[in-house]
Formats: sequence, structure tokens, C-alpha cells
Amino acid sequence: MRSITLLSAALLCVLQSECSKTIPELKKEILDQILPKNENEIMIAPGNLTSDCTVVESTLYVLNIDDINENKGEISLRLYFRQYWKDYRLKYVQNSLFEYILINNEEAIWTPDTFFVNEKKGRSFEALRPNLLIRIFPDGSVIYSKKLSVTLECPMDFDKYPFDRQVCNLRLESYGNTIDNLKLKWKTESNPVGVYSENPVPVFQLQKFVSSYGMVELQKNYSFLAVDFYFSRGLSYSIYNIYLPSIVMVFISWLPFWINKKLITSRLLISMGALLSFIMILCRFSERQPQSQYSSSMLSFTATCASFLILSLVLSVLLHIFDKDVEDPIKIVESGKLNENGGKKMKLNILMKKLPCKESWLEFGARFIVPFVFGLFCVIYFVSWGALSADEPITVPMTKS
Ligand SMILES: *[C@@H]1O[C@H](CO)[C@@H](O)[C@H](O)[C@H]1NC(C)=O
Ligand SMILES: *[C@@H]1O[C@H](CO)[C@@H](O)[C@H](O)[C@H]1NC(C)=O
Repeated sequence: MRSITLLSAALLCVLQSECSKTIPELKKEILDQILPKNENEIMIAPGNLTSDCTVVESTLYVLNIDDINENKGEISLRLYFRQYWKDYRLKYVQNSLFEYILINNEEAIWTPDTFFVNEKKGRSFEALRPNLLIRIFPDGSVIYSKKLSVTLECPMDFDKYPFDRQVCNLRLESYGNTIDNLKLKWKTESNPVGVYSENPVPVFQLQKFVSSYGMVELQKNYSFLAVDFYFSRGLSYSIYNIYLPSIVMVFISWLPFWINKKLITSRLLISMGALLSFIMILCRFSERQPQSQYSSSMLSFTATCASFLILSLVLSVLLHIFDKDVEDPIKIVESGKLNENGGKKMKLNILMKKLPCKESWLEFGARFIVPFVFGLFCVIYFVSWGALSADEPITVPMTKS
């Protein structure tokens, strides 16, 4: 009888102490039980009970596209990267007091050796504490989340500049584990990849992003995750900085055809001014452009503008030479007014007068045909390049499992 009362008292005591345990004490107890006791255990992947294959699912949320550097061919992203897997060694008895245990020491448990294949620079955020979380659920599920900033290599093709589109690829692989040991997947529920903020880089607009995963065959087979970001270039920068100013300069170079023919100095000055301004616009623009700015589309436009500007200059001179109002050189020669200096010019004028070119035709051409041809060129240029960049098919990479 006495022993029974003692036993029940002891049981009560145990129960009481169990009940009076605080949540931190409970959590500590669980962690003491489940966390690996020695380093070697941390290095070993959990597998899945029946095989040595750990499936790691991921989600990736891009907080911001910080920069797209055309000259270096790189893209900088700030992102949340989350990985989900199951480690049966971390199982514990569920209780009603908490849903999971949060730890923030990534050295305490096994974590996947995922890395960014095309990373140039990368850092994790450390202020105020390292920006990472690890949640351990009673069934051994683990969520491992980190805030990262990565600069990825993104080779760009400027052949169609400024009507180009760029595709930047983000690629994740396991550094050491082959696909037999570690399988990477996007988490299927909802959208595994997201972009939170619209692209602040004014030059490029994010059109869409496509996520995929699969197997890559190197010396061994590795699992990979990928996201392709598709960007189209906004045209406003080019329009304001090169197209519009160039077109205006070409327009200005036509003004001389409408002003008094006697003012040859003013006419030549306007033509020359337009040509020089155009060269300055070109220089200023090319300073800020990606290295291979001399794409076929840009070159064809600027070369055409330059040709029209030079044509205007030449036409101004020709129109002056053929001007009827200028004193007829033959008469001057006959009247003996010709001096030494004027001799050469007069000879040239006489030569020009003999050419079958009619001044009125020249003037008509300069005033109407040249602008018409230039306008036609502009329309064809923008319609064809615009259509080309809009119709370009976007190839969506295959998703394999
Ligand atoms: C473990 O992985 C193997 C091979 O990938 C698979 O066939 C098996 O169904 C998995 N077992 C569990 C419990 O997920
Ligand atoms: C990689 O996978 C392919 C296709 O499944 C297979 O034929 C090949 O043997 C694998 N290579 C290695 C090194 O495991």
C-alpha cells in the first residue's frame, strides 16, 4: 500500500513537471533530441528511407531586378530563395503548443549544396541578423529560406539593337550531388517563381519569366533548376536620344531650300550646322551605349541620316551654282570685269551651266523628292524593325522531370 502511494506521488510529480515545462524548455528538449550530435552526421544527406535520393523542392521570389548591365552582360537580382525537403532524422512528436521549431543556424542540420551556376557575385544579407530561417516540422519537413543578392552572367546579343530582346537565365544545380542523390524540383503548389516588383530599369521591361527543371549530362548527371527572364528594350530612350534629334537635324538641313537663294552663307551655315549637330548627337549617344552599338539597325539609320545631311549640303552648293539670278558668267567674261581670283570660279560656273541639269528640277527635287524619300525610309525602317522585334518567337524551354 505504501509503495503504491509513493509510486503515484512520483508519477504525479513527473506529470506535473511535464506540464509545468515552458515552451522554450520543450523546444530545447526536442532540439537536443533531433539535431545531429556530430559533424559527420550533418554532412550526410537524409535520403528518403528507401533510397539515397533526397528530393529538394524550391521556390524563388525576385524582390527586385536591381540592374541589367549591358556592357558587362550581367543582371543583378535580390531574391528570396526557399528550399523544402524532408529529413526523417528530424522527426519529433507533435504537440499543440507550436506548429514548428524555428532555428537560424544553417550549420546545425544538413542543407542542400545548391548553387547558382552562372553567378558572378553573390551575397546573403546579414543585417541585423543573417537573413535566413529554418523551420523544422514534426514530420521532419524542413523549410530553409534565405534572402540573397546575386549578379548573374547574362550574355546579350545586340544585333538588333535597339529593337533587341534579351533573355537572362538563372540556373541552379547541386554542386556535388548527382541526380541519384539529390533531385531538384520547383515546388508545384501555386507559382514556384515570382517577381514582386516591376522592373525599375527603364531601358528594359520584363515581359515574362519561364521556370523549368531537368537533368544536365556532364561527367555525371546532375539535376538543375532554371528560370529564364525575357526582357524587351523600351524604345523611348533611343527615340529621345537618337531617332528624334537625328530626324530633326535632317529636317533643319532642308530649310535652306526655302530661304532666299542669295543668302548662300546662311544656307551653307544651316546645312553645316545640322551636319555637325548630328555628329555630336551620334557621339553623345554612342558614349552611353553597349559596346556593340553598331548593330545593323542603328547603322542603317545613322548612315542614312548622314547621307541625307551631306546631300542637303551638296544640294545647297549646287543650287547656288545653278542660280539664275547670279550674274551670267559668260557676260562677265565678255565685259572684261573678270579679275584673277574670280577666274577659276567663273570657269566652274560656265562648266556647270553647260550640264544638262535644270535648276528648277534640282530645286523641286531638293524641296519635295528628298523629304519624300526620307519620310518613306523612316516609315519602312520603323515598321519593319518594329514588326521584326514584335514577331520574334520566344522559345520556351522544355520542362523535364
Ligand atoms: C524514395 O526515392 C525512390 C527513388 O527516387 C522512390 O522510388 C521512392 O518512392 C521514394 N520513397 C519515398 C518514401 O518517397
Ligand atoms: C545520364 O542519364 C542518361 C539518360 O538517363 C543515361 O543514359 C546515362 O547513362 C547517365 N549517365 C551517368 C553518368 O549516369
